[in-house]
Amino acid sequence: MGTYLFGDAGELHGPHFDALSALLDAGTFARVEQLGVADGWRCLEVGGGGGSVANWLADVVAPSGHVTVTDLDVARLEERDNVTVLEHDVVSNILPGNAFDLVHARLVLFHLPARDAVLRKLRDSLRPGGWLVLEEFDCLPLEVLSAAPDDAKLIMRVKNALLTLLDHAGAELAWGARIEKALLDTGLNDVSGSREVQEWEGGSAGCRLLATTARKVRDRLPLSDEEFDRYLELMASPETVVSSYAICSAQGRR
Ligand SMILES: C[S@@+](CC[C@H](N)C(=O)[O-])C[C@H]1O[C@@H](n2cnc3c(N)ncnc32)[C@H](O)[C@@H]1O
Repeated sequence: MGTYLFGDAGELHGPHFDALSALLDAGTFARVEQLGVADGWRCLEVGGGGGSVANWLADVVAPSGHVTVTDLDVARLEERDNVTVLEHDVVSNILPGNAFDLVHARLVLFHLPARDAVLRKLRDSLRPGGWLVLEEFDCLPLEVLSAAPDDAKLIMRVKNALLTLLDHAGAELAWGARIEKALLDTGLNDVSGSREVQEWEGGSAGCRLLATTARKVRDRLPLSDEEFDRYLELMASPETVVSSYAICSAQGRR
């Protein structure tokens, strides 16, 4: 069984969740809005992290709707009138059945070796007609579009080292490429998906995400201090451009 690779990163959680929110929230909100989410919906946000999606959902479904937000680590999640925060392991803890109009998980199943079983559990927690929305990365497309040759090599070394660590921890590196089929295989209806590869410049939310991710596992990256500092400089410099992880989403209804 894998362990969440970034679980014990202390004060780096904040910048990591901020970068995810800046990079992904607008797309998440648009995707969920087009499902018709509104006052009264009962929502489950799995592995809610910094809470930006749960807080947004809570506003959208108020006053009569409700959000349950779970995570292994709930330190950054906020209880509100219509938000229940649950310290919960989606692999081993139970979820209520037939309970939710919307279940959303972003970059959580990616990390979990039991992702296909978790998917069935999330499906069963939907009420008939409820929507499951997954948003995940396919990490393989990341490559350097603009940097000096030695710098480009360094960026690719960090990518490969990070992906090796993720792989050993049980992540599925191209999981994003498989989610639409996984939703179909789990028996959901009206399944559709999308995939986007962006250009991330140094200093953008995407490169900030790459930098905080690398900082979280600094001790396990085979790099000298000089190389690591150079990598952080590159991730902050507008001269650097990479093609992003593919940002994949898929949705289906029970
Ligand atoms: C990459 S972060 C994504 C956070 C948030 N979903 C977002 O997109 O901003 C992955 C989150 O999943 C949580 N997580 C990892 N394994 C989990 C598990 N077995 N059950 C519940 N949450 C888990 C982590 O604690 C972390 O908050």
